[in-house]
Amino acid sequence: MLIKKPSDIRPSEITSQTNYLNRRDFIRAGAIAGGTLLAPNALGALVPEGRLAKLPGVIESPYSTDQEPNSYDDITTYNNYYEFGTGKGDPVVYARDFEPRPWTITVEGEAEKTGTFDFEDFVKPFDLEERIYRMRCVEAWSMVIPWVGISLAAVVKHLQPTSKAKYVAFETLNDPERMPGVRRRVLDWPYREGLTIAEATNPLPILAVGLYGETLPNQNGAPIRLVVPWKYGFKGIKSIVGIRFTERRPQTSWNMSQPREYGFYANVNPEVDHPRWSQARERRIGAGVFASKQPTLMFNGYGEQVAHLYKGLDLRRNF
Ligand code: MTE
Repeated sequence: MLIKKPSDIRPSEITSQTNYLNRRDFIRAGAIAGGTLLAPNALGALVPEGRLAKLPGVIESPYSTDQEPNSYDDITTYNNYYEFGTGKGDPVVYARDFEPRPWTITVEGEAEKTGTFDFEDFVKPFDLEERIYRMRCVEAWSMVIPWVGISLAAVVKHLQPTSKAKYVAFETLNDPERMPGVRRRVLDWPYREGLTIAEATNPLPILAVGLYGETLPNQNGAPIRLVVPWKYGFKGIKSIVGIRFTERRPQTSWNMSQPREYGFYANVNPEVDHPRWSQARERRIGAGVFASKQPTLMFNGYGEQVAHLYKGLDLRRNF
């Protein structure tokens, strides 16, 4: 991954706490109404109010961290999305006119339910949950993000993988017409990622369709992207158009690009340095350039829920 100097980092302020509390009230009101307000299949059908459309019927998740989320500004202006440029400030500019509708997701491989699904139909059977997760990027910065998403485990179960399915592979849209960054071969497009079936059926990963209670902004991976909170941020593949259940380990973009630096697992691990820098500490975006770095936690602090997935695995070799 290209590295940025501290001077490139926007020291924007944390919060807009009042706004966030208002949004949470809205979400709570939706949860109390218990779906009688509007069913999740009305997703995207609401008229945008100020920013992007509010998502109806969002329920709060017990998996959320109680850490203060980063501001909407931090989350939507400091991004990695190489299909829209390699600079952190590129995606907010170059993805602005991207139209994430109509959108289809193709499911292939070792599963009973394969085929091409319209995005709205794909997400309809599942609860929309708000999950506030810590995100730790491989470049040693972090954020706390209030995602809205559906449980990946629930999606996988619904698609009924066969006994041969050992992995789930994901692919991003590869459209040079709509994604200017794809015209340059900075990566071998399409962007690809993958998880083991055990990882994909753990309760933590979500397919995010929103943040701060609203539709997902383009620069964050609209209309649907992966979030795996115990792994480095690059596993969180954006704008997914393909899901494939496989017997063999799938290829993943950063591993293909620089195998010595980026492994398949990419579990957050303060003890295993990146070949070019330490992973022991992280800088929280929004805390200001002079704020001290904080120690990085094993599995990004989610060890209790996921450490068992890697029992007996040498995490230095399987990085
Ligand atoms: N997905 C695609 N398709 N293309 C990308 O360049 N970048 C990854 C990941 N998903 C990327 C991607 C990286 S390196 C990170 S850190 C996260 O997205 C950043 O997500 P965010 O911009 O929403 O914070």
